[in-house]
Amino acid sequence: MTDYRLTTVETVREAGSWAFTAREGDADREVFLVPCVDEPGETQDGEGPVRAWINRCTHEDQRLYREDIGAVTRGGSVVCPKHGSAFDACDGSCDNGEAAGTTLREVDVAVRDGAVFLTDDDLTYLYEELPDDDGDDEGPSSSSHLTF
Ligand code: FES
Repeated sequence: MTDYRLTTVETVREAGSWAFTAREGDADREVFLVPCVDEPGETQDGEGPVRAWINRCTHEDQRLYREDIGAVTRGGSVVCPKHGSAFDACDGSCDNGEAAGTTLREVDVAVRDGAVFLTDDDLTYLYEELPDDDGDDEGPSSSSHLTF
């Protein structure tokens, strides 16, 4: 399978996150890219690492990347907009809040010459951005202490 060129590292860095939809078997999968800024040295040449994650919180069926705000990143983590659990942007792990002890599902990507390629054998690129809102997103709950 030929790797699919998704976007550039610069685009992901400037926007903070970038999303696309892919096909896995009979299902569509939402995926988002975020910079991984915890690896000194790899971010110096403008082609530093980018990670790709399935766009579903491990706590509930909740998008982490939303069309209106993208993925909320803070201190090297991706923050769930519903209950505020923070997932490490580099390894997907979570040690806090409702999703503590879980890890996001990673999607394989590679960076070459400043471009990000989808290299995951299980996924086929469909289109940039996400499908129309399926109605299962919820904003921050009353128990959330997040402000955006
Ligand atoms: S839905 Fe993400 S922490 Fe609860």
